[in-house]
Amino acid sequence: MPPTPEHLSRRKILKRSAGIVGVIMSGLFTHHGLAAFLAEPTPIQALGPFFPDEGDEVDAIRENSDPSLPISEANDQDLTFVKGRKGKALGQLIYLSGQVLDAKSGQPIPHAVLIMWSASASGRYNHKGDDGVYSFPHPKTGKIIERIHDEHFQYWGKSVTNKQGEYWFKTIVPGFYPIDLQAKLYRPSHLHFKIIAPNSSTFVTQLYFRGDNISNNVLNQELLPNDVVIVDAGLTPEEQKRVIVDYAPDPSGKITDGLVGHYNFVIPS
Ligand SMILES: [Fe+2]
Repeated sequence: MPPTPEHLSRRKILKRSAGIVGVIMSGLFTHHGLAAFLAEPTPIQALGPFFPDEGDEVDAIRENSDPSLPISEANDQDLTFVKGRKGKALGQLIYLSGQVLDAKSGQPIPHAVLIMWSASASGRYNHKGDDGVYSFPHPKTGKIIERIHDEHFQYWGKSVTNKQGEYWFKTIVPGFYPIDLQAKLYRPSHLHFKIIAPNSSTFVTQLYFRGDNISNNVLNQELLPNDVVIVDAGLTPEEQKRVIVDYAPDPSGKITDGLVGHYNFVIPS
């Protein structure tokens, strides 16, 4: 499942539209009361071949039956079950939350639509194009991993930012998956994002996982620097750090059924 020419050209278009290398945001008052902070823009990465457009899916999950919504926006921000189906998604639960911020002003962006999609816990997309290797040996343990479709996983969801620019998602840690077994190339666990914000170009990126309690954490960290998407996007080691999210038990103790991660998307307007 290497990147296709279609989304490579899309990446180039997106890259051209985002001419910001680094932005210092000072004097920003957030809802957390910080007087000032420094934030670099979120690096752009490829859309990938598995964005859920109409007709692409293996299983057309539409929790919201409003026909005017594209299928990518017809599901909510909790991907751990599908409304109307009995059962929960396989995999390790995580909560991701944060803000969408304007790279120029540092201000929160309300009414931004975040579409998030990913593979299942075993690394399989709900997409007809994901017809590659269905089982493969774990590169460290040799244990065979079956890349299965999980009918209880929602696969994609939508969160819309509030007045403070805040969003949240509940999902599972997606599986890493092979893109070339002979070359020993695998994609580390990752979440895909498309952000449609008022007065901004559509923003596309991917976020990765880190944390002692995250499945395959050591392997994921080893895979990250050589990941095809990261290399293709030309991310420097410093930029790579800006797309990795640390997940840990909730320090406040309020969330007990999964790990929590925090990420602010800093996007050009
Ligand atoms: Fe992917």
